[in-house]
Amino acid sequence: WSVHAPYIHRINQLKKEKNAVILAHNYQTPEIYHGVADFAADSLALAIEASKTSADIIVMAGVHFMAETAKLMSPQKKVLLPDMLAGCSLSSSITGKDVRLLKEKYPGVPVVSYVNTSADVKAETDICCTSANAVKIVNSLGVKKVIFLPDDYLAKYVASQTDVEIIAWKGICIVHDQFNEKEIHDIRKNNPGIKIIAHPECPPDVIKASDFAGSTSGMIKYVEDNQPKKVMMVTECSMSDNIQVENPNVEFIKPCNLCPHMKRITLPKILACLENETGEIIMDNETINKARIPVERMTAIGR
Ligand code: 13P
Ligand code: SF4
Repeated sequence: WSVHAPYIHRINQLKKEKNAVILAHNYQTPEIYHGVADFAADSLALAIEASKTSADIIVMAGVHFMAETAKLMSPQKKVLLPDMLAGCSLSSSITGKDVRLLKEKYPGVPVVSYVNTSADVKAETDICCTSANAVKIVNSLGVKKVIFLPDDYLAKYVASQTDVEIIAWKGICIVHDQFNEKEIHDIRKNNPGIKIIAHPECPPDVIKASDFAGSTSGMIKYVEDNQPKKVMMVTECSMSDNIQVENPNVEFIKPCNLCPHMKRITLPKILACLENETGEIIMDNETINKARIPVERMTAIGR
């Protein structure tokens, strides 16, 4: 913490001076999550918070699609991302043009896009979802068939929970795709009584072998509510690190995997971005106006 302290001190000072707020995803490192974040949550709550904040500047301690979503929800605000290269393998797996082609192939079939997509993809989308509300959103449409993109595993998870036919895309999360069923069974065998909780971006056999599947905030709530003696969070490593302090009686069993995009965000980069107001998310009004609609439809339905 001593190496982090000067950054934490200066960032918190600058936030006050500039009326800035730091919204952080649950995968950020503990020094960001506990040291400088005003609000730390899953991607659904981050989108909602971005629409409510009274700050002049929003710094997104997260990845590019999260910063874009914040801009869509608060177009009049300055939204900054400390590293413009913080992307996402799901978001980069599909373009707006790909969605237009899908719509030509399946005319009249509504498009449900995971929030892990670019604004160009959202602009071609009927309604967004996150891992916290994907099933609810799909069911809310009252249709027989939907195009669900871009996460193939999340699409399979949703398909397992609904009667709606799902037309999927071949995107994957490079972090969750690394987990496998054997690893889960081995951990369970070596840790009797352990609770294994997975993010729905994991492969279907991993989710099946787990005790619970939910969004990052859903996973945190599961630990807080159930206080398992031992738990494995089948997701990004910082999740366990962040909530260990608040749950001292829970033993967190690794392995976990790192998201190289989330880990691009560091305290020195947050400080530089806040000091110089660099890394601003700029979008044309047409994209903002089109891409905001599916996000607002999603937040109106909620969790
Ligand atoms: P959540 O919406 O569950 O926070 O997930 C976002 C994400 O990028 C998971 O990999
Ligand atoms: Fe994207 Fe996966 Fe990283 Fe989440 S963990 S930001 S889905 S690459």
